Amino acid sequence: MSLALTGCSGVDGFSVLKPKGTSGEMSLDMIKLALFIMLGVFAVVITIYIYVLIRYRKRKGKDVMPEQVHGNNVLEIIWTAIPIILLTILAIPTVKYTFNMSEIKASEDSITVKVTGYQYWWEFQYPDLGIKTAQELHIPVGKKVNFIIEGKDVLHSFWIPALGGKVDVVPGRTNTLVLDAKKPGVYQGKCAELCGAGHALMDFKVIAQEESDFNKWVAQMKQPSTVQTAQQKQGEALFNQNCLGCHAGTNKNIKGPDLTKFGTRSTIAGILPHDEENLKKWLKDPTAVKPGARMPKIDYLEPQEMEALVEYLMSRK
Ligand code: CUA
Repeated sequence: MSLALTGCSGVDGFSVLKPKGTSGEMSLDMIKLALFIMLGVFAVVITIYIYVLIRYRKRKGKDVMPEQVHGNNVLEIIWTAIPIILLTILAIPTVKYTFNMSEIKASEDSITVKVTGYQYWWEFQYPDLGIKTAQELHIPVGKKVNFIIEGKDVLHSFWIPALGGKVDVVPGRTNTLVLDAKKPGVYQGKCAELCGAGHALMDFKVIAQEESDFNKWVAQMKQPSTVQTAQQKQGEALFNQNCLGCHAGTNKNIKGPDLTKFGTRSTIAGILPHDEENLKKWLKDPTAVKPGARMPKIDYLEPQEMEALVEYLMSRK
């Protein structure tokens, strides 16, 4: 049975059936509980069905109608009471789990991440650490992560199947979610609410690291990147001229992901492998990669300028 159930999880770190965190384990327990209750009901119903089929089948030479009854109070009470009992058994852990998942308790063993969903990308801010990133969420293993979830445009849904969740991203509302990762690894995150043309590609990665590695990453994020070569300097000038408005958040209409440490990422736009060819492909025609992406085409640069821009972005480490 478990083999059949895993059929829908092709991507590693993208399965609710292989949880990697407390919340995910609770989800799986609930799935199992609901499944066993359903199997129990199925077995009882099928047994009665088969019994009735055989007991009251048409027999040769015998054409007797079964005894015709009208209503049976005892039976009716039984088949009302059984579903109530079963639903109560399901409801208790469901309610407990739902509250557990959203109950934020600030402690030494927790960190806070503010998540903002945009069409079609994710921003991750660490208010206590003073850093900000996009598309790739780093978290330390073994610590509770308090997610404060907000939306800026339309409805999205924040979901990391292997860790637990999911929670709606609602503009004008703040939702909370508490997750942890028990094992280091890279887990797939998804937008789970139809939000427009780029919805299916509104992915992100969760990089769960041992605490020391996480602290190294935080230190690196805080360290300013330096521009070294003449080509990178030219790229920086082009970036400031063409990209900064959206990517530094000064354009009121369009906000793009923070690119301060772009060179350290493992994906471009959350989906393409992180290399120069893909970066050029993305810059020249973003909507060909991610339908509905709000980024304008940067297809007017000279090849040499494009080289410089890409070189500059990749040097942001
Ligand atoms: Cu955002 Cu679907």
